[in-house]
Amino acid sequence: MTGEPAAAEVLACCTAIYSHPLARILLGDFLHPGGAALSRCLLELLGVRAGSRVLDVAAGTGATALLAARQHGCHVIAIEQSAELVAAAQAAVEAAGLAGQVEVLRGDAEALPVGSASADAVLCECALCTFARPEVAVAELVRVLRPGGLAGITDVTRRGELPASLSGAVARAACLAGALPPEGYRALLEAGGLAVVGEEDHRAAAAALAVSVHDKLAAAELLERLGHLRLPDGTVGRAREVLRDVRAAIADGRLGYGLWVAEKPAGPGAGRQAASTASIAGRSAGVRL
Ligand SMILES: C[S@@+](CC[C@H](N)C(=O)[O-])C[C@H]1O[C@@H](n2cnc3c(N)ncnc32)[C@H](O)[C@@H]1O
Repeated sequence: MTGEPAAAEVLACCTAIYSHPLARILLGDFLHPGGAALSRCLLELLGVRAGSRVLDVAAGTGATALLAARQHGCHVIAIEQSAELVAAAQAAVEAAGLAGQVEVLRGDAEALPVGSASADAVLCECALCTFARPEVAVAELVRVLRPGGLAGITDVTRRGELPASLSGAVARAACLAGALPPEGYRALLEAGGLAVVGEEDHRAAAAALAVSVHDKLAAAELLERLGHLRLPDGTVGRAREVLRDVRAAIADGRLGYGLWVAEKPAGPGAGRQAASTASIAGRSAGVRL
């Protein structure tokens, strides 16, 4: 049977990919294009400051949660579905001495284990496109945001058809098959009741990550040959093939990376103005999508 892979299959595949040691070797702690620099930019755009209550949905290794706590003195709840990544994030938080500021919870983005209107800012980096039901995840982001709070999304963008190597459950979990065109993310956020106040094109970050992964795959191959890394047979070869198709798709504009900031309406009489798209663009290095 063809068609969309089942939700449970996508989730299992996604958590397995990002919990795999090869993912840490290839991507580092920040499991998204742009790395720490783009996360810093997103936290700036969200206006995170000391005392802000921030939620990081699908937080991976907890790298952005730690960055937010260190840089802005905010309180962060990091939600992640993979038990291995939750354990890694918890260990990193303790090692950093930030257990009083950063809480790591195992949980599903489609049923967030936190109260309604409890967050000033919610971020979700490179993960919305991996969820089986992104509209349910957006509804959850909206539920947990306080009125007037901001959601920040960065994600893979896609236009047109991709080769067979970039479809199916693995490609969906790797942020490719489920990626939307830029206007698709805007529509998803607006359908959830958010007002999009900023959007930027970060395709250069996707291209740079592909180059870096290419170089690190060569290093992984060498480590494997020297017996310092054990991977299932053919893993590096398959990764190379996928990467070749990803780089071709980035080069011709079928794949890219985008950033969106969206506000939960404050409601009548709340007296707070939404940040304008121009003010968002003025604070960031990105290009308008
Ligand atoms: C590309 S990684 C991004 C991780 C992190 N946001 C970052 O940018 O470093 C996608 C993450 O989403 C997590 N994930 C996938 N589906 C999820 C779900 N339904 N609920 C919570 N986390 C999920 C995966 O385990 C993985 O850590």
